Amino acid sequence: MADPWESAYDFAVQVARAAGAVIRKAGEDEIKVRTKSCAVDLVTQTDERVEKIIIGSLKEQFGDGSHCFIGEESVSKGEPCNLTDKPTWIIDPVDGTTNFVHGFPFVAVSIAFAVNKELEFGVVYSCLEDKMYKARKGKGAFCNNEQIRVSDVKDINKSIILLEHGTDRSIEKVTKIFSTMQKILRIPVHGLRGSGTAATNMCLVASGASEAFFEMGIHCWDIAAGVVIVREAGGIILDVDGKPFDLMSRRMMSANNDIIAARIMKEIEIFEVLRDDAPVPKK
Ligand code: IPD
Repeated sequence: MADPWESAYDFAVQVARAAGAVIRKAGEDEIKVRTKSCAVDLVTQTDERVEKIIIGSLKEQFGDGSHCFIGEESVSKGEPCNLTDKPTWIIDPVDGTTNFVHGFPFVAVSIAFAVNKELEFGVVYSCLEDKMYKARKGKGAFCNNEQIRVSDVKDINKSIILLEHGTDRSIEKVTKIFSTMQKILRIPVHGLRGSGTAATNMCLVASGASEAFFEMGIHCWDIAAGVVIVREAGGIILDVDGKPFDLMSRRMMSANNDIIAARIMKEIEIFEVLRDDAPVPKK
């Protein structure tokens, strides 16, 4: 049977590439005019502009009302963040906004597509490295059209683990994150790393450069595309407590296999986060 979403998948790759070119150009202009005081504005403008370009292009093709769109910028402006059974695009226009401001060279466009709440495909374009990661359910994962696989390391002592400290700087969360980092480092593992973009971290797991990446407080648009890419590269996606993964829960463990995932999960100090689809309090 023909793949019903094949042309949507190909279109998502084209849109991600075009969005990445806009980000690269904005980054070059930013380096010319950079001052700390305007950095935040610039990020907001670029994020908003790129999200408009992505959603605008997708709506031209699929905007007959049958598709839904969840985008980081639209949600921050009050649009709903609910995953329904309808075909749904989940978009992070600029994953790694802090990196973008600083010229730190990992910034990604992340576009995922779900139907009946199941992720069908994911595209992550690491635009400063010009690496196009993509995966379609059941069809494998690729980087610049070369098939990628997770690493076959089962010994935690031979692993590199990726993590991020996220954006919440409350003492409770920072303490738990650093305590978790310390415990994992002391297992010991070969190293801890973090690229500053969750989407890119997941692609590094998918391509075998790292054995695992996890985060609490992450959003669905940061990870949805990466979930498909890791799964299709042979890896696993779970909740940080080992239960089944829930895209809206803001908790995610991605790993090359369940042995590595289980060993890391023993060290994670879990903290509470509000779900992405939690009702927004009325003002
Ligand atoms: C952030 C990045 C970062 C992760 C944060 C995300 P953004 O996304 O993915 O790696 O630690 O939790 O919010 O804000 O740059 O799109």
